[in-house]
Amino acid sequence: MRLRAVTIGLALGALLAAGSTLAAERPPAVETCLGCHGIPGYKNAYPTYHVPKLGGQHAQYIVDALRAYANGERPHSTMHANAVTLTEEQIQAIAEWFEAQGE
Ligand code: HEC
Repeated sequence: MRLRAVTIGLALGALLAAGSTLAAERPPAVETCLGCHGIPGYKNAYPTYHVPKLGGQHAQYIVDALRAYANGERPHSTMHANAVTLTEEQIQAIAEWFEAQGE
């Protein structure tokens, strides 16, 4: 009984550790965004083009902005095109990743 609880505890710990490693990895959906939203360490593909900096923004702010672009509340054809293809999971992952890229 005791041993079993320890084993489960270890397995959970390993899962949690794996989870946090994954959270730090760049979600594949972010690749598109980085072409325009340059962050420190990345080259902006369009240096003459003004785009908001997303690194270090609150995840919730990014989530809200993406939902608003997707449903047209916030009008911007380029961002609408980008946001509308994202799943809720992708939005969350992207937002958390950008938040972690603080200065
Ligand atoms: C083709 C260039 C381009 C791509 C690709 C792009 N964006 Fe944007 N993004 C912009 C521009 C330009 C704005 C400013 C729009 C406006 O004025 O509302 C913007 C605005 C935003 C904002 C609002 C920021 C703020 O400060 O209010 C968020 C959040 C955002 N983009 C996230 C993303 C994410 C996530 C992706 C990838 C899925 C992405 N963008 C892909 C050009 C782009």
